[in-house]
Amino acid sequence: LYNIGILGFGTVGSGVVELILKNNGNIEKKGGLTLNIKKILVKDKVKKRPEYIKELITYKPEDIIYDPEIDLVVEVMGGEEPALTYIRQALKNKKHVVTANKEVISKHGRELLELALQNKVNLLFEASVAGGIPIIIPLKESLIANEFGNIMAILNGTTNFILTQMEENKVEFSQALEMAKKQGYAESDPSADILGLDAARKIAILASIAFNVRITPDKVYTEGINGISYTDINYAQELGFTIRLIAEAQRTKDGIFVLVAPVLLRKEHPLSAVKDVYNAVIVEGDAVGRLMFYGKGAGKMPTASAVVSDIIKALKTDEKNRLNCTCFRDERVLPIELFRSAYYFRIKAMDKPGVLSKISGIFGKNDINLYMVIQKNSINNIAEIVVITYETTFKNIQKAVDEINSLDDIAEVSNVIRVKEEV
Ligand code: NDP
Ligand code: HSE
Repeated sequence: LYNIGILGFGTVGSGVVELILKNNGNIEKKGGLTLNIKKILVKDKVKKRPEYIKELITYKPEDIIYDPEIDLVVEVMGGEEPALTYIRQALKNKKHVVTANKEVISKHGRELLELALQNKVNLLFEASVAGGIPIIIPLKESLIANEFGNIMAILNGTTNFILTQMEENKVEFSQALEMAKKQGYAESDPSADILGLDAARKIAILASIAFNVRITPDKVYTEGINGISYTDINYAQELGFTIRLIAEAQRTKDGIFVLVAPVLLRKEHPLSAVKDVYNAVIVEGDAVGRLMFYGKGAGKMPTASAVVSDIIKALKTDEKNRLNCTCFRDERVLPIELFRSAYYFRIKAMDKPGVLSKISGIFGKNDINLYMVIQKNSINNIAEIVVITYETTFKNIQKAVDEINSLDDIAEVSNVIRVKEEV
């Protein structure tokens, strides 16, 4: 019998408790161990809790972290502090730790894995990336024979829900965000999702594991979906694309590119078929080739599935099989200015002779070859021009944007989004 202490009883924590209570009998038969939830830490003394956990509730973290009878601590509180301090203390007190906290793991993973190693305990964090989809253990174990060169993924359920709502229901960003809030997907402060920070934390964790290089979120070039309007989605659709918030990491001979940004994807691309709160991860191993993992990236029970599976693994894994930090390489993260891609431009310009030639002159001067130029609606003498470029560096794109915007009242770049032609 193993005693477990749980820090947090919110969406994920309540799912973990329900799943253990529901499946403990089978966990015993399949895993050969029985789980006993000994204590649950919460903060709010007024909030109503279900009757069946009332005796387990505590408001004092030391009741869990310093209890010698507790074998494993589950951290599902969220946020950097005090979660980080509690995890450190639990590891120092020789308790295994399972966490869903991508903020803590992406920023402090190396230190915490070393602390776990020193204290001869396990630290597992499968739920921190892509919720219910098993991806961390498969990369570390099932695919250990491979070298990985590429990861391309949808890692944020809230933003994927918003983009697919905009696409399917023809609504603007603000309306789609309200729908996400109503459905309980977006948090009351959804900025970490919308601005791409949540996906940046997750791709930092995945890239560190896949490339064996320590990558922290501050190294990830990050754009959110707050600049995407229904007009962009509509043009993308007309041209045969969808728009998705893509987290990507590429390992080149010179270093690593790691970025989160909206991308126009061909409708035939497998990630275009990923809708609503679903997540998907495509990895390419040198031996196995292309693999795609798909499933629910958030929510109570899918996330609990990852946490409870980690609990069993942590309790069953001995010193010889411990999953330590695998970041043994030291490779540099390359500046985003060097990243090559095709791009979509939406430009507002005066509908008069010579304007288009000025704009195309700027593209030419910056070594940007144009694949497609379409003039859309002209209202009150202002035309909307949609341009798709061939592949070029982000540095050239930034220079072109600045120069077009400096054409004063003649033209203005309304949006620039990466384009991925390959499927
Ligand atoms: P919630 O906000 O729903 O729950 C947080 C819980 O932690 C609450 O019970 C809260 O207490 C408790 N808590 C927070 N701070 C403290 C504190 N200082 N002291 C004591 N208790 C505290 O969060 P989620 O369940 O959604 O998320 C938990 C973690 O899982 C986060 O790291 C999140 O990023 C991650 N995650 C979440 C997913 C999801 O779908 N929700 C998916 C994958 C990962 P009280 O009840 O008193 O308010
Ligand atoms: N806010 C996150 C999402 C939760 O929407 O994907 C899962 O990590």
